Parts: sequence; structure tokens; C-alpha cells
Amino acid sequence: MTTYLDRDAIGRDVLRARMIPLLPAGLVKHIDRVVATAESLARRHGLDVETTVLMAQAHDVLRATPAAELLAEAERRRLPVNEAERSAPILLHGPLGAIALSERGWVRDPIVLHAVRFHTAGHPDLTPEGWAMVIADKIEPSKRRRWPALEAVVEIAEYSLEIAALTYLDLLHAQGRRRGWVVDPAAETTRQALRERLGASARSAAT
Ligand SMILES: [Fe+2]
Ligand SMILES: [Fe+2]
Repeated sequence: MTTYLDRDAIGRDVLRARMIPLLPAGLVKHIDRVVATAESLARRHGLDVETTVLMAQAHDVLRATPAAELLAEAERRRLPVNEAERSAPILLHGPLGAIALSERGWVRDPIVLHAVRFHTAGHPDLTPEGWAMVIADKIEPSKRRRWPALEAVVEIAEYSLEIAALTYLDLLHAQGRRRGWVVDPAAETTRQALRERLGASARSAAT
């Protein structure tokens, strides 16, 4: 089991209690489902459950913030904003969420903040706990109901979180091409990095 020394003073339950008054009920329910899914993935893979659950609780702290506000906040802070983020400012809720959690003193563990920052597109440097949270965010039950192709990701996540993440990003890439969406360059960077790292094992999982 992986353990981290820099434990957060606030655990999942206290963080949840602080977030509830600020978030719409539907988002609180989504976060609860992500926490439950992430916890089960963490246990399955022998990860640090406490860290994984804290990441899951924290990940969408700014998900309900209006797009225009997110964009204005990113500009105020002079964060780099790419074309995909400008056309879909909701992509900024991860990076700005990590900043908010840190500034409010709610989360101080840099590993948790890193996972929150990059949870939308993933990141090549995510820890196993970070991957468990990111995948849980994509496959929680209501997302699976809306997009049945995710069942493949659910099955693969039982034995490899990184191959599951690559499978998800491949699905997203294919869907984006079909629908003519602006590609999120961060998702593409993560996808290519995983593709190179996983190589043959990812290909054999796909067959
Ligand atoms: Fe999110
Ligand atoms: Fe989420």
C-alpha cells in the first residue's frame, strides 16, 4: 500500500460538510458517487484509500461556477488559457479548483491538489490514487447509464487503471472526431503519453 506523509488535516467528511452549502444538490450527489467508485477502485488496487477518497471529494469544488466567472478568474490570475479552454471554460474548473482548495486551507497535500488540477484530462504524472479518482469521475453510475461504451473502461479498470484511462481517452478522441469537437490538447497529451508508456500491454488489452 502506498502512503503519503503529508496527510491533510481535513478528512473527506469535513471537506464534504464545507462543500455542501456551496454546491447544487445534483453536484453533491455526483461527488458522492465518484467517492464511492474511487474508494472501490482504490481497495481493488491496494492504494491509499484515504488519499483517493479526499481527491474524489475535492475534485469538483468549482464545477458549478459559471463559465464566464471561471474564464474571468483565470485571466485575473494570468493563468495560461488555451483555445479549448477559451471555447469551453468549464475545463478551467480543475486548475482553479485546486487553487481555491489550497487558498481556503481545505487541502494542502500537493498530490491531492495535482490530481484535482488535472482531473478532467488526466496527466501523465498522476499517482495511482489520482488515476483511480479520474477514472471514477468518468465511470460513476450515472455517466455509465448515459454512455454505455464506458462499460469497457469499467471492465479494464478492474486490472489496470492506466489502461482504463487510455481506453477512456481513446473513446473520447473517437467521439470528438465524429462530432467535430475542439480537441482538448491536455487530453491529447495524456493520451499520447499513456500510449507510449503502455505500448504492447494496451494493445493486447484492446484485442
Ligand atoms: Fe470535474
Ligand atoms: Fe466530476
